Amino acid sequence: MKVGGIVRPPGDKSISHRVLMVAALARGKSELSGLLTGDDVKSSARVLRQLGAVISAINDKRVAVHASRFSHPASRLHCGNSGTTARLMLGILAGQRFAATLTGDASLRRRPMRRVTEPLRQMGAEIAERGDGLPLTIRGGRLRGLTYQSPVASAQVKSALLFAALTGDVPVTVREPYRSRDHTERLFAHLGLGIHERDGAIVFEPSSHSNIRSFQLSVPGDPSSAAFLVAAAVLAAEGELLIENVGVNPTRTGFLVVLERMGAHVERVNLRDEGGEPVADLVVRPAQLNGTEVPAAEIPTLVDEVPVLAVLASRARGATVFREVGELRVKESNRLELVAANLRAIGARAEARGNDLHVEGGDQPPRGRVETASDHRLAMAFAVLGTLPGSDVKLSEKKSVAISYPSFFRDLRKCFA
Ligand code: S3P
Repeated sequence: MKVGGIVRPPGDKSISHRVLMVAALARGKSELSGLLTGDDVKSSARVLRQLGAVISAINDKRVAVHASRFSHPASRLHCGNSGTTARLMLGILAGQRFAATLTGDASLRRRPMRRVTEPLRQMGAEIAERGDGLPLTIRGGRLRGLTYQSPVASAQVKSALLFAALTGDVPVTVREPYRSRDHTERLFAHLGLGIHERDGAIVFEPSSHSNIRSFQLSVPGDPSSAAFLVAAAVLAAEGELLIENVGVNPTRTGFLVVLERMGAHVERVNLRDEGGEPVADLVVRPAQLNGTEVPAAEIPTLVDEVPVLAVLASRARGATVFREVGELRVKESNRLELVAANLRAIGARAEARGNDLHVEGGDQPPRGRVETASDHRLAMAFAVLGTLPGSDVKLSEKKSVAISYPSFFRDLRKCFA
């Protein structure tokens, strides 16, 4: 197949959540453009509205956010499928003087929350939880500062603590085993809040959150969504694809680093800055890939791209191994087991051994039924294989792409029109 044309991925999901939340905590009216219109971001907007923020309809052009003092919500805060909404909102709620109950869909209710509730409790929040997950009730209050060594490299844990520091007006220092995505730090720094790095730790000393001024910000395209288009272009037989307006924050672009090692070169052109985030256009051409090893230290920079990288690895020469990807078991689905099982279902060789994922490359046309478990990234990763000649990949469902990339199938078709 020949790849070609110009596409633009939707707004970055991680950044969209964060800018909505900070805008809802700022003073006055903020204006956001380029927001992701996916279901996860709508979950954050819904929860913020329940607390008192006035947010215009979510769209990718212009969204107005009028902040107001948060108050006790009349009903439970439903976070849908969104782990980022649940975990970051727990941080925000830790600094409020009322109780709120958070819940979510069946997938989110299975995901661990103690990684966030534990340090928030140490800061002084009262949290009533039955097991390690939603639903749970948090009552915020007067918080104390915290120096925390996180056992997991998780931007959601780190960001929850930074938001608690912001709303509770207390200092927080966070260390993590490997640096996770730093969008919260960049946004706080961009808005002039007191955040910096000291000896490898993130140190945030807020100077009263009531001082966040309203702002205007444009959200760059999501590199995790662009990754599926990059993958499709790399697997094509000929042509060239231009993907415009992609965030290239180094804590997110491990996917491109690994692809380079596997033999594909993705050119970054028109490099610029958008709201404290680096942004570029990507030029992608087809390439023959070789297997590689992805060490544990690299995983946080590509944690959401393991499914699509595994799909690419199944088309490479030789074997690929992803080290220490146990975190994938607690994403929207058990991605570690499902990536391996689905690769086998379409005729490839793959296996989870302990916390490592092993994939053998091959060149047989992929054929079979893929169980997405309603996980958006599994649906999109395996849809990429469906662009190969002779392939017959049947997805158990396609609707889940609305979580992070509502126009995914249209954009994918556009690349091969
Ligand atoms: C996210 C952080 C990552 C990522 C998720 C979004 C964020 O999760 O997988 O899709 O916006 O902070 P962890 O913090 O659990 O690694």
